[in-house]
Amino acid sequence: MDNRPIGFFDSGLGGLTSVQELHRLLPEEKVIYYGDTARTPYGSKSPETIRRFATQIVDYLVSKNPKMIIIACNTVTSWALDSLRDRYPDIPILGVIRPTVRKVVEDGCKKVGVIATKATIGSDVYGKSLKALDPDIEVHSLACPAIVPLVEEGFIDGEIMELTVRHYMDDFVRTNQFDDLILGCTHYPLIAGHLNKLYPGIRLYNSSAEVIHEAKDILTARDMLASGSELTDRYYASDLSDNFISMTDLLFSGTDFKIKFVKLED
Ligand code: DGL
Repeated sequence: MDNRPIGFFDSGLGGLTSVQELHRLLPEEKVIYYGDTARTPYGSKSPETIRRFATQIVDYLVSKNPKMIIIACNTVTSWALDSLRDRYPDIPILGVIRPTVRKVVEDGCKKVGVIATKATIGSDVYGKSLKALDPDIEVHSLACPAIVPLVEEGFIDGEIMELTVRHYMDDFVRTNQFDDLILGCTHYPLIAGHLNKLYPGIRLYNSSAEVIHEAKDILTARDMLASGSELTDRYYASDLSDNFISMTDLLFSGTDFKIKFVKLED
């Protein structure tokens, strides 16, 4: 048993969708979350900047003594997973991409769409990793850079987001005719309702959720699951945006948590 918290981070509130899955699958676990709301979005930044921001956040989370860190961000996973693991070799650091790729290949998907930020699509980590496991898989990738800023501003349900989704997706779906779609950004589960309504029949794969299954396997194998912890979940943000607060309240109402503003050195 290990009652230390699990550290999570994202450029903003997207990674909260991963915490939501943790609460569902492993309700005994406690969370320290860092959302870099002052510097979101990461998806249009350079790999160097993404790595610098991610390193600052992981240094901060490590100062809180977590038993594991989950990079609840595809953009950071694409560009900084290896360097973060090199920096902290003794802490399990999980990215969101490998578990998602494994699930898609295990399910036998053959024609797959991937939507994500510019930086994630630019890295082609999804394409390369899928093809490494299944050379016959067909992968179609698309960057959707306006979605994260809209989510961070609270435009999630409603017409503005629906039009934005259609702007990116209508042609992409029509041209490529894939059966399965990877939500390669942890903000995107929040727009799954639009995708299901607009493109029924396309199966969605959720990178926020798949990583939690991997976390469960690792914690179980190492006998590190929590039990009866009296800690409180803690959410930190580099800027306390109204939407970060209301989204945290909405997703985790009924659980005991604290939100605090912590700016990191640049
Ligand atoms: N949730 C992040 C991801 O999964 C969004 C990155 C961004 O801030 O653009 O990629």
